[in-house]
Amino acid sequence: MAGDPRVQQILDRALAEVAGARSTSDLEQVRVRVLGRSGQLTTLLRSLGSIPATQRPKVGEQANRAKAELEAAIAARLEALKIEERRRTLQAERPDLTLPGRRPLPGAVHPLTRVTEEIIEVFEGLGFSVAEGPEVESDYYNFAALNFPDDHPARDMQDTFHLGPDALLRTHTSPVQIRAMKAQRPPVRIICLGKVYRRDLLDATHSPMFHQVEGLAVDRHITMADLKATLQLFAREMFGPASAVRFRPSFFPFTEPSAEFDVRCFKCGGDGACRFCKSSGWLEIGGSGMVHPNVLRNVGYDPEEVTGWAFGMGIDRITLLKYEIDDIRLFFDNDLRFLQQFAGLPGR
Ligand code: DAH
Repeated sequence: MAGDPRVQQILDRALAEVAGARSTSDLEQVRVRVLGRSGQLTTLLRSLGSIPATQRPKVGEQANRAKAELEAAIAARLEALKIEERRRTLQAERPDLTLPGRRPLPGAVHPLTRVTEEIIEVFEGLGFSVAEGPEVESDYYNFAALNFPDDHPARDMQDTFHLGPDALLRTHTSPVQIRAMKAQRPPVRIICLGKVYRRDLLDATHSPMFHQVEGLAVDRHITMADLKATLQLFAREMFGPASAVRFRPSFFPFTEPSAEFDVRCFKCGGDGACRFCKSSGWLEIGGSGMVHPNVLRNVGYDPEEVTGWAFGMGIDRITLLKYEIDDIRLFFDNDLRFLQQFAGLPGR
């Protein structure tokens, strides 16, 4: 005896729906309709009492089997749907291995930093130490102690950024000479590297902020020959072993005598038509001289006992020359195409 035909009908229809289910919620609908608390099979099992006693065990067994079969079918379909869903996600999110990779950009030491470090290395090798001073200075350190008279035209020449009644942006690194000498007794051998400020308009060769290196040596029996030898050695380290240095008489309030110094053009070697040195054969590098006796007195040194030399030069200018860069603004634009060229450059 085939049991109750309704059971088979319910099961067949439910199995067909399970097979065609596209989502877990489709499946849930079938489950609730057939196996839920008031589902078709549940209701049928509950009404067994109303069918003839001889039929009851058969129909009961049939309904229970149908229930188990449907549950298994639902579980299997659910598993299949999950796998399918996962495959679809993986497909959609598959990485495109043909895309070009992103090249990591190597960092580069800024050219001004390179040259700054190079200068420090040269002078530390000569027994100099690095001194520092504030960028906001008083009139005293920037001018007065350096022997600039009150009405000296050099004060205007410097074209100073004034911040207040007695606060200005240092126009050169020379005030650090005063600070260093006041902080110690001779012998003094220091260099100071840092930012300086002048009211210049920004163009290819001028910037209202630039960098200087100051050098100072004070001791007994220091002469201008020591100065020239030191600058000579520096020039050879910085611009090549063939570099020569020459002095041109000049004036600075804080040195006497004073001299500007040039380095033989390393492009043309000093002769020929050369756009680099404008065919002069020499590159102007900085100012220098013997420390003025008034400056020594201002810091409490006795000019009868000690003498000294000093120099100052532009780090930006040296860097422009060394790397043959024609625009100072490139140093401050942070253009990666410029800076990147200094990545992987061999050290000295
Ligand atoms: N301070 C000067 C300037 O900024 C440069 C200079 C010249 C520094 C002669 C010195 C020196 O120490 O002796 O133009």
